[in-house]
Amino acid sequence: MKKLYFLLFVLVFSSISAQQIQSPSKEITLEFSLSSLGEPTYQVRYKWKEVVKPSKLGISLKDDTALTTGFSILNKKETSVDDSWNPVLGEQSSIKNNYIQVSFHLLQKEANRKLDIIFKVYDEGVAFRYEFPAQDALSYFIVSEENTEFNLTGDHKTFWIPGDYDSQEYVYSETKLSEIDNSKLDLNNGIALKSIESNYRVQSPLMMKSNDGLYINIFEAAVVNYPVMHLNVDIESFKLSSQLVPDALGDKAYLRTPSVTPWRTIMVSDDARKVVSSKMILNLNEPNQLEDTSWIKPMKYVGIWWEMHVGKSTWDFAGSQNAQNAASKDLIPSGKHGATTENTKRYIDFAAKHGFDGVLVEGWNVGWEDWFGNWKEDVFDFTTPYPDFNIKEVADYAKAKGVKMIMHHETSGSVANYERHLDRAFDLMKEYDYPAVKTGYVGRIIPRGEYHDGQTMVNHFNFVAQRAADYKIMVNSHESVRPTGYSRTYPNYIAAEAARGNEFNAWSSGNDPKHETILPFTRLLGGAMDYTPGIFEIKMNIYDPTKTEQVHTTLAKQLALYVTMYSPLQMAADLPENYERYLDAFQFIKDVPLDWQESIYLEAEPGDYLTVVRKDKNSESWFLGSITDKNPRKTEIKLDFLSPNKKYKAIIYQDGKDADWKINPKSYSIKEQTVTSKSILKLNLAPGGGTAVSIVPAN
Ligand code: NOJ
Ligand code: CA
Repeated sequence: MKKLYFLLFVLVFSSISAQQIQSPSKEITLEFSLSSLGEPTYQVRYKWKEVVKPSKLGISLKDDTALTTGFSILNKKETSVDDSWNPVLGEQSSIKNNYIQVSFHLLQKEANRKLDIIFKVYDEGVAFRYEFPAQDALSYFIVSEENTEFNLTGDHKTFWIPGDYDSQEYVYSETKLSEIDNSKLDLNNGIALKSIESNYRVQSPLMMKSNDGLYINIFEAAVVNYPVMHLNVDIESFKLSSQLVPDALGDKAYLRTPSVTPWRTIMVSDDARKVVSSKMILNLNEPNQLEDTSWIKPMKYVGIWWEMHVGKSTWDFAGSQNAQNAASKDLIPSGKHGATTENTKRYIDFAAKHGFDGVLVEGWNVGWEDWFGNWKEDVFDFTTPYPDFNIKEVADYAKAKGVKMIMHHETSGSVANYERHLDRAFDLMKEYDYPAVKTGYVGRIIPRGEYHDGQTMVNHFNFVAQRAADYKIMVNSHESVRPTGYSRTYPNYIAAEAARGNEFNAWSSGNDPKHETILPFTRLLGGAMDYTPGIFEIKMNIYDPTKTEQVHTTLAKQLALYVTMYSPLQMAADLPENYERYLDAFQFIKDVPLDWQESIYLEAEPGDYLTVVRKDKNSESWFLGSITDKNPRKTEIKLDFLSPNKKYKAIIYQDGKDADWKINPKSYSIKEQTVTSKSILKLNLAPGGGTAVSIVPAN
């Protein structure tokens, strides 16, 4: 902590007058008031323009009472913070945390219940949470709904995915608020779960743009012991309201005082780059809880993974028609099993040769014949390898080659089973020196009736990160709740999928070219994503001539994603043999670091394009990534972020002149040029294309 200005005013109020709180820059104003009925209400302005009209706050309880009305303000506390902290891994080595905080202590006279509402106003937006102080009148309680509203000012352009309690693996729809309608979605695109209860419900982060050019983002931070908040949309009045994800009983949250809700966040700016670069979500989480973080390291990895997604091999050893034999372990090998000792050694060799940190192996353990569909609660034990995967031989081989193995735990949603086995599973990882685990939660949750986004599962995902930390294990979760900054608190929770990843391009209608320009404004605000970029063989007909699927990208764009899609854990997802054919382009994946001193978002427009440049944490080198949607794009980038009077060698990996994601995705060219802080780079991105540049000090 560098500076901490601590102002404390304790004021006593009896009036209903509105209270204003301004951001440090004074650009954002939050106004809090109680209506004549004692209903807490807030509104938000940006540069004196209305962003959120008066909107109600409150919580409904299951015992039919509500913390929504009849309040008076007992007192108010104001603080301001201006400090910074250093993330273990991150987009920048130091994160500034600067806000004005006002806590309103409210009393509901009739019931003698106390509720605090805490506001933090940052330069990029506003955050607030409910706090339930310890009190006799409210000790144990069940939240039946949260009554937070976001009363928007117009029919904004919106990037949205449906309010599915079980999955975020959707493409974004880009429509006006008034056009949100889940019934109009084409869901025939590879999604198994459809826990969508309303046509007018979406998930957050919800990214919007108003007609007068304001970028507005609604999200939440520090979701701990509480369900995820989805948003109901009134398509006529443009009022959004919170919808907490229920548990199996239909309840929302079981709490005991003292306790808090997650932060509700509203970011706003007339500059999209301020939203996409904001660290507000991380700032709103509790500081790192781990004393020793020396074992938490970025990991670039390859793995036995894409070959299953493209159908070259299988996760199962015997083929699922043999499932009935799985219990007897009397399996007849299908001959297509990917996770063999021999194949794993091939990947380890490749990783060692090209300087990768890790190798992921999926399908190494017994259970895959019968994994899908949630019929067998104990389908995996996470400790029994298939007969053709010799875990000791693999571990010894990896060690000799200086490569780390990454464990895979697919739970198939059978979470109770996973928790029962967790310690043994982590023990096995320690025995064979696996520093990281990729977890997976495909399918419906067991205990049955729970949703991926409910309170129970939020607690599960956070618990796995905590327990993994006890073992010094890093976690990358797939199909988990989307992150809301918990990686600040448990920095071993280094990445998650929790959005529609590159895998969908292998076997579904895929992710259209604008997808990766939206994710940084939505999913990535809460933490790093394991998107699995780096696909060079873009059209799936290379594996089977009848296939029409493809990655919606050019080859150069796959390189740019290593920079635009921040993550300290990055996969080179394609097959080794595909990289061997394009070693010159592969060099960028080998060179790009995963941990940064500084990141500068140079250009950004959600749904259209993004250009970011980042400085390596451990050197003076810079790496630039620029991507576009289906439209070609020309742009000029000033390199004035480079140190003055210094020469650098820029290697530019760009789309070929005739490149096009659909017609000619693999056309690329690589050129080298000497640059200084005075240079301007002219970039030429193909439809669905991108550019990646490494800028290294010349010696
Ligand atoms: C879905 C995950 O996203 C993917 O990476 C994994 O290969 C499969 N589940 C199987 O676990
Ligand atoms: Ca997935």
